[in-house]
Amino acid sequence: MRVGVLASGDGSNLQAILDRVHGRDGIEVVAVGSDKPRARALERARAAGITARAFEQSDRHARDAAMADWLAGAGVELVVLAGYMQLLDAAFLARFPRVINVHPALLPAFPGIGAVEQAVAHGVKVFGVTVHFVDEGVDTGPVIAQRALELPGVADAETVRAALRPIEHDLLCEVVLAIARGAVRIP
Ligand code: GRF
Repeated sequence: MRVGVLASGDGSNLQAILDRVHGRDGIEVVAVGSDKPRARALERARAAGITARAFEQSDRHARDAAMADWLAGAGVELVVLAGYMQLLDAAFLARFPRVINVHPALLPAFPGIGAVEQAVAHGVKVFGVTVHFVDEGVDTGPVIAQRALELPGVADAETVRAALRPIEHDLLCEVVLAIARGAVRIP
């Protein structure tokens, strides 16, 4: 299964995929794209010998079309959003039936950016991670997997984020492996 990853930031989820999933069970990460040319994720990809490219088009639809052409040219079958901080348009999603995203909250609670800050502000005691299929909405696609973490006494977002990060890595890798094995029903 040929995998393309899109990431806007540090790329720790990408790194987990590269370390634990890439080269296993027929899974190959073949392309890593970003809307941010300075994203550390691009450096991580190149360090692993994977083609990486930034798409800086200010028009979202132009960027999505260019990324879709590039990913399709690489034969990508699964697109993983690993901290990709843009929405994908309908034309992109029509070309790739399998696009998944990792989100640091138990959806449908706290979609969008600042999910952990929103949860902390609400006084949430059970945090968590969701991996879901991507549709045109903001974190609204069907849920594939979730994992909860009870943190009853924590009141700062940075601590919560740090506690959730390894869970994100585990859950995202598990889902990619499950998709490769045909164990996830595609909606
Ligand atoms: C993660 O918290 C992910 O859930 C969110 O963006 C962050 C990306 O982190 N969508 P990284 O770039 O993979 O380290």
